[in-house]
Amino acid sequence: MRAAACPPCGCNAKCTGIHNGLIAKKFPKSAPPRRVYVMDENFSYPFHMDATNSGEMIPMISEITCPDDKSALCADIMSGLPEWFEEPDGIAACAGLVTGLPVLAHTDSGTRTGFIALKYHPPAAAEIFVIATRREFHGRGIGHSLLKAAEAHARRSGCSLLTVKTLAPRGRHEPHLDSTRAFYGRNGFLKAEIFPTLWAEGHPCLFLVKPLH
Ligand SMILES: CC(C)(COP(=O)(O)OP(=O)(O)OC[C@H]1O[C@@H](n2cnc3c(N)ncnc32)[C@H](O)[C@@H]1OP(=O)(O)O)[C@@H](O)C(=O)NCCC(=O)NCCS
Repeated sequence: MRAAACPPCGCNAKCTGIHNGLIAKKFPKSAPPRRVYVMDENFSYPFHMDATNSGEMIPMISEITCPDDKSALCADIMSGLPEWFEEPDGIAACAGLVTGLPVLAHTDSGTRTGFIALKYHPPAAAEIFVIATRREFHGRGIGHSLLKAAEAHARRSGCSLLTVKTLAPRGRHEPHLDSTRAFYGRNGFLKAEIFPTLWAEGHPCLFLVKPLH
């Protein structure tokens, strides 16, 4: 494993992240920015790579290891999505909890565009604790890429299930929540059960599961 400094804060947290062991190539400096799709050395882990003008290959999805960085990214992205994340206290709580979880971030041209945090339930399940992408980057496949990276992370940890909890339909006009549920459906998640009062009265919880083959 290679150690890497945490890019935004420069801390020296040891990186055991997913950007180790990549098959990376260098492109000539004259080449225009472009994206290529590469796998890790075991051909089991998908990576998008961003070829910048510097000619360096930058992993577009990598694991954040610095707790403060995890927390700041989570709070920053969630705060920009008030339709989904209404309560500042909820965002703060989430930003605190992700510090202890594996967090994968998507970066595009230096901007952290989205993240996913995983909570493991050994031995078989990995739960998506939270996933979010910046509004201006919605609908570009970043959420899908984060899910693929999370699936690979879960598989590597020996899990055979990826799960997530989200708000169930509650008879209101909430197209943003419809689109979140559609996102999971199109990415292979199956509706397992609705828990009407698990979170709170009026906040029914939809539990979704994806078998990892
Ligand atoms: C849910 C969420 C993470 C999805 O992220 P995203 O980056 O927009 O996801 P994708 O771009 O991969 O997919 C979104 C849609 O864009 C479409 N899409 C994917 N790639 C695309 C592309 N290259 N061009 C145009 N559209 C594309 C997909 O068809 C998908 O449609 P669907 O949602 O109806 O299935 C994002 O919408 C979000 O942050 N929502 C708010 C927070 C939230 O709901 N989190 C989950 C809480 S449980």
